Amino acid sequence: MEDKLELLKKECLECQKCRLFKTRQNVVFGKGSVEAKVMFIGEGPGEQEDLQGEPFVGRAGKLLDKMLKAVDLNRESGKIYITNIVKCRPPKNRDPQTDEQQACINYLYRQIELINPEIIVFLGRISAKKLMKDDIKITKEHGILYRKNNMLMMAMLHPSALLRTPSLKPEAFEDFIKLRSLISGEKEYEVIQL
Ligand code: URA
Repeated sequence: MEDKLELLKKECLECQKCRLFKTRQNVVFGKGSVEAKVMFIGEGPGEQEDLQGEPFVGRAGKLLDKMLKAVDLNRESGKIYITNIVKCRPPKNRDPQTDEQQACINYLYRQIELINPEIIVFLGRISAKKLMKDDIKITKEHGILYRKNNMLMMAMLHPSALLRTPSLKPEAFEDFIKLRSLISGEKEYEVIQL
């Protein structure tokens, strides 16, 4: 699987399927373990990610790291893989447009297929809307477990939203705790079939 993922990455690094290739410094393919139990999917690279070629390495990423560490899921744990809906930075961090998401989505489908995680966690509304639930209300529906295409899924508040509104951090952290007990198998949770 590692080889196949590397091949896919190579292909992605050369991608010119949408306008975002013109303004990127680096393609941010994704990073983590091929054996990951949890796959985190954000929206798209920001400035730091574009410069460094890795997902979630800016301010939002630092906050994500803190929360991951608190539930024993840090990047070195071998339990996670992190990527985004679009692999190139949208100028000025605007939302990725529908046609850009569509041009990029096959890379993500193939990453999901190769990694085959136990659960997909969507960071923020944009990725949850694209792959899980078109009418998602993230403020109400974060932390709820869904099953779709035989895959367990959950949306979480985007760490950038938590930087803007720190009072949301406690409820966001509850979702991380839920994620931990879910993957350790110590608790069973209700799952809504989509
Ligand atoms: N925000 C995202 O959605 N993804 C990143 O990689 C960084 C910030």
